[in-house]
Amino acid sequence: MIKSRTIFSIAIAAAVLSGASTVSAGEDDIKYRKAAMKAVGGHMTAIATILKTDAGDMKDIAIHANAMAGLAKITATSFPEGSGPMDGKTETKMDVWEKPEEFKKVTMAFIAEADKLAAAAGTGDKSAIGAQLGALGKNGCKACHDGFREKK
Ligand code: HEC
Repeated sequence: MIKSRTIFSIAIAAAVLSGASTVSAGEDDIKYRKAAMKAVGGHMTAIATILKTDAGDMKDIAIHANAMAGLAKITATSFPEGSGPMDGKTETKMDVWEKPEEFKKVTMAFIAEADKLAAAAGTGDKSAIGAQLGALGKNGCKACHDGFREKK
């Protein structure tokens, strides 16, 4: 009896050790999410820079805005269960999973505002694009970061 129990413990220890040697699925999810968010931030900065300075080209705002609209849709699926603060190094708060209705609302607002930005970008109207970029920043980025991202 004692012998089989000992063998059982060794088997568990081996399983735990082999598990610890690989990166968890949660960490992969976090890595992907951060990369996608960084891309969102990059397009935001690129658009603002084209609008405010002589750098870049007005016609390329549409490329950035369309990419942003696509990335906003990815946001809806880049917060799977098991990718929270207990699963790896992340600034995402548990509220994402504890208040799913609120999180869904702000994600939908992000998608809607990003779609509107892509539409505005197509017109080439600088002031319309600037106004919509502001709305996206307020109702998308800031609204979500305020509630669901850990403050640094
Ligand atoms: C629906 C919620 C939500 C929206 C909308 C959102 N973010 Fe985020 N963002 C997050 C969360 C949560 C994190 C933390 C990610 C993590 O550490 O897992 C984050 C992280 C980031 C990061 C840091 C990425 C890294 O390198 O770790 C940047 C940059 C960023 N967001 C920019 C933006 C910009 C710009 C917008 C708007 C155009 C935006 N985000 C919209 C939730 C959101």
